[in-house]
Amino acid sequence: MKIVVTGGLGFIGSHTVVELQNEGFEVVIIDNLSNADEKVLEGIEAITGKKPIFEKMDLRDKSKVEAFFEKYNDIGGIIHFAASKAVGESVEKPLLYYENNLGVLVYILQELVKKERASFIFSSSCTVYGQADTMPITESAPVKPAESPYGNTKQVGEEIISDTCKVNSQLNAIALRYFNPIGAHSSIKIGELPIGVPQNLVPFITQTGIGLREQLSVFGDDYPTEDGTCVRDYIHVVDLAKAHVAALQRLLDQKNDSNYEVFNLGTGKGSSVLEVIQSFERVSGKKLNYKVVERRPGDVVQAYADTEKANDVLGWKAKSSLDDSMKSAWDWEQKIRD
Ligand code: UD1
Repeated sequence: MKIVVTGGLGFIGSHTVVELQNEGFEVVIIDNLSNADEKVLEGIEAITGKKPIFEKMDLRDKSKVEAFFEKYNDIGGIIHFAASKAVGESVEKPLLYYENNLGVLVYILQELVKKERASFIFSSSCTVYGQADTMPITESAPVKPAESPYGNTKQVGEEIISDTCKVNSQLNAIALRYFNPIGAHSSIKIGELPIGVPQNLVPFITQTGIGLREQLSVFGDDYPTEDGTCVRDYIHVVDLAKAHVAALQRLLDQKNDSNYEVFNLGTGKGSSVLEVIQSFERVSGKKLNYKVVERRPGDVVQAYADTEKANDVLGWKAKSSLDDSMKSAWDWEQKIRD
């Protein structure tokens, strides 16, 4: 069965394509290469023995989206990763984010509602919870006002899908709210490829470890947490990828309880910034050069997932430890700087 993966050459997308192909799905990737490299296709092929179909295209062109769905009229499901994700950039360029993350979503849904039955998986984020009042965060925790246009696109994106599902019973959708995806495939043939200076913690750590960056800035150590640094739920990207296959399979098997569902994807374990640094030092045998600086505006104190719903309903559980994830991130960093 053919599955479309938009943004399939990106970090989470490429790992998901691998898991889909390992499960026997035929994958069609759509990517505009704005934040990905075509060479990722070779990595996917080296791992799975199969090259996915690749359509280089920008989904902001509505006529191209229509043409795509005409060409591929035998699609079993679609996993939609393609989106912009830099919080700071979204503040500078809100319209780019609304067009890329919401305009495109509307175009795809307009095509899906024409079908007799459609299965749709959406990349959402734990950012929709803002600073949740209680930990761990369950799916019923309230959605808080977004801190950035990026965060808003995830909230509004979910609303667009939910509203569309209400009046289109043949459209079946699952929004997956990711916590913090890190790491790389164990083959180290694919991994994260941040362009420019990484905004996220783990690629910044590994780039500092390899000598590409001088020093990691730890954004604040006076938070109300055990060691004063912020706490997040770091999940191995391969675990996350497998959750997409489980979610898709749920829709294909028509096992979903309603035609719009939401799941948290995390490990359930919170780790502080200092714990992530310690983990890096353990698995790499290197001391990391870091300095505590001012807090970063917009950071929440802590966020980690209640994983019960994903465990029980999707039948999926994250398996990798923080050390496993950090080890794979470090192996990958060493490989790409070779
Ligand atoms: C960030 C976004 C989130 C988005 C996610 C996508 C913010 C506020 N949140 O999540 O909306 O969904 O990326 O990948 O930008 N840290 C440092 N030094 C660094 C980088 C990070 O100390 O150089 C700390 C941060 O303060 C935070 C933790 O590391 O406590 C994780 O940061 P990051 O990787 O940017 O993820 P989030 O902020 O959780």
